[in-house]
Amino acid sequence: MTQAAGEFVGALSFQALTGHPVHSDILSVEEENAMGHINLARWADQIIIAPATANMIGKMANGIADDLLSTLYLAAECPVSVAPAMNQAMWAKPVVQQNISNLKQQGVRFIGPAAGDQACGEVGLGRMSEPEDICNRGLAGRDGILNGVKFLISAGPTREALDPVRYITNRSSGKMGYALAEAAQSLGAEVTLVSGPVTMSPPFGVDMIPVESAQQMYDQIMPRADQSDVYIGTAAVADYRPKDLAMHKIKKQGDQMQIALQKNPDIVASVAALQEGRPFVVGFAAETDDLEQYAQNKMQQKNLDMIAANWVGQADSGFDSDRNALQVYWNNGSQMLPTASKRQLAEDLLHLIIVRINEKNTT
Ligand code: PMT
Repeated sequence: MTQAAGEFVGALSFQALTGHPVHSDILSVEEENAMGHINLARWADQIIIAPATANMIGKMANGIADDLLSTLYLAAECPVSVAPAMNQAMWAKPVVQQNISNLKQQGVRFIGPAAGDQACGEVGLGRMSEPEDICNRGLAGRDGILNGVKFLISAGPTREALDPVRYITNRSSGKMGYALAEAAQSLGAEVTLVSGPVTMSPPFGVDMIPVESAQQMYDQIMPRADQSDVYIGTAAVADYRPKDLAMHKIKKQGDQMQIALQKNPDIVASVAALQEGRPFVVGFAAETDDLEQYAQNKMQQKNLDMIAANWVGQADSGFDSDRNALQVYWNNGSQMLPTASKRQLAEDLLHLIIVRINEKNTT
């Protein structure tokens, strides 16, 4: 506990509830041993700082070690996660965001913050994530069931340029693909995420390759596909792009205009058609009607091992929503994953994928 934490809740309460000693002072850690704080840092398998104030994040980002917690962070070699909690205006301050960005680049993992009512009476981003969420996310990385498995995941929309200022795109936010990347990484996988333009930061520990168009996505995915164990096509890839890219801004013409479109390469089908080094291939299907029929057809036509179908154009599922529901199909099987957070669905889908891969390997 930091000194500020001790002013909110007494160390004795923590000690009584957890049944473990509470450390708060550099010099009182293992009193007989002046190196107690170093031993404590070595002892930890993982450090989770929750709640982390703007002050603590600032100290961590700038190498300041003036109390037990900031000293432990500097001395630690284990993974470190931070669950920020602060007023929404403090969270939005560029200096705080810069500190967070620096820490992320150094491998510190951020859990939250969440949005909503704040202790100060304001509303916005900055609430500490729910303790259960912090525990689940913090402990997930220790599961390791995907240790060493290489995942290649596409996410987000593509942008198909018409001229230097306009493009054709869709409503994908990238949330589903990013949730899958985060969940796979936290289960121990090596994850490469090829992402269309979205506003989210890449999940901790994931190698993210930004792209804009379907052709660029294809160019980044194909050389990596045969090096991967699993490919998941979550991206909403444009089926067509403007046939001609105007070099200058297209001027207003008559009452109507026509744009000729040309087919884009089908990325997931190309990965599934690999003759050598073909990964386990999972596609997504975004449908507004006849979900099962269209999804099954896509699985057959693109030669996929599995397809996760979701409704789009409805509230609380599909594009941009934080929640979704998936109907998953594979050869001779299917499973409904009912409405839940995209992060939860990502984990559930990964477990289905693991089971199918194991089944395939044993037959
Ligand atoms: O990003 P979010 O806002 O979180 O929304 C998530 C989502 C709705 C985008 C996601 O869950 C989803 O359904 N992704 C697939 C969207 C899509 O393009 O579906 P489709 O039915 O048009 O394509 C079928 C499959 O072919 C998909 O795996 C797609 O990635 C792939 N495809 C399509 C066209 C193309 N040229 N290349 C492809 O690889």
